[in-house]
Amino acid sequence: MFQPKTYRGSFNAWLLHFLETHMDRIYGDRKREVFRGLPARVIEIGPGTGANLRYYPGGTEVIAIEPNPMMYPRLQANADRHGIELEIRSIKGEAMDLASGSVEAVVGTLVLCTVDDPKRVVSEVHRILKPGGRYIFLEHVAAPHGSYLSTFQNLLHKPWHWLSEGCNLNRDTHNILWAAGFSSIDMNCFMLNPGFVPITPHIFGMAIR
Ligand SMILES: C[S@@+](CC[C@H](N)C(=O)[O-])C[C@H]1O[C@@H](n2cnc3c(N)ncnc32)[C@H](O)[C@@H]1O
Repeated sequence: MFQPKTYRGSFNAWLLHFLETHMDRIYGDRKREVFRGLPARVIEIGPGTGANLRYYPGGTEVIAIEPNPMMYPRLQANADRHGIELEIRSIKGEAMDLASGSVEAVVGTLVLCTVDDPKRVVSEVHRILKPGGRYIFLEHVAAPHGSYLSTFQNLLHKPWHWLSEGCNLNRDTHNILWAAGFSSIDMNCFMLNPGFVPITPHIFGMAIR
């Protein structure tokens, strides 16, 4: 029987893996900048096939909060390649089984676009971080409302959301972060140039609990 969800799942895992070199080209410098000085134990939300593992020092312990089992074989292979101690937890970022105030660093890239409830995920990140702990983020976001690009994102939203298994082109993720109660946020905006038009606007940086 044709099962679109299974086909989309394996297609998306393959696509993420296929795009890793390209993502390193377009995001690598920014990631290296914000990933600098991470502690030996990191929580990563929605790591997918592990595009970020190359930026952690070998031996880093990464707890992967990843609900999609289609990602696991490539994620584990990537961890082995980069000497990362990987622990996969098959749960969602909206409800992490980690004690409050227990972790020094959380990483999430291109994930708040896809989670069911980004406010809840960010509130969970805030909860599990120790005071002074950091949340490293890189996300594509909604274009300014009323702009040509915003109209394009809204038009494309439904098919994109279906094909990508839940990615939202038009989320105001930046506003969710500002409202989450962090003690400070260093947020940088950039446009992919030349970029794939619907996901041109991005934010990246660090929020401190
Ligand atoms: C677009 S991929 C990004 C993967 C990777 N972070 C990267 O930068 O290439 C989004 C990932 O978030 C995961 N995801 C979806 N919903 C999630 C949730 N509620 N909590 C945690 N991860 C989730 C997906 O399974 C997928 O691996």
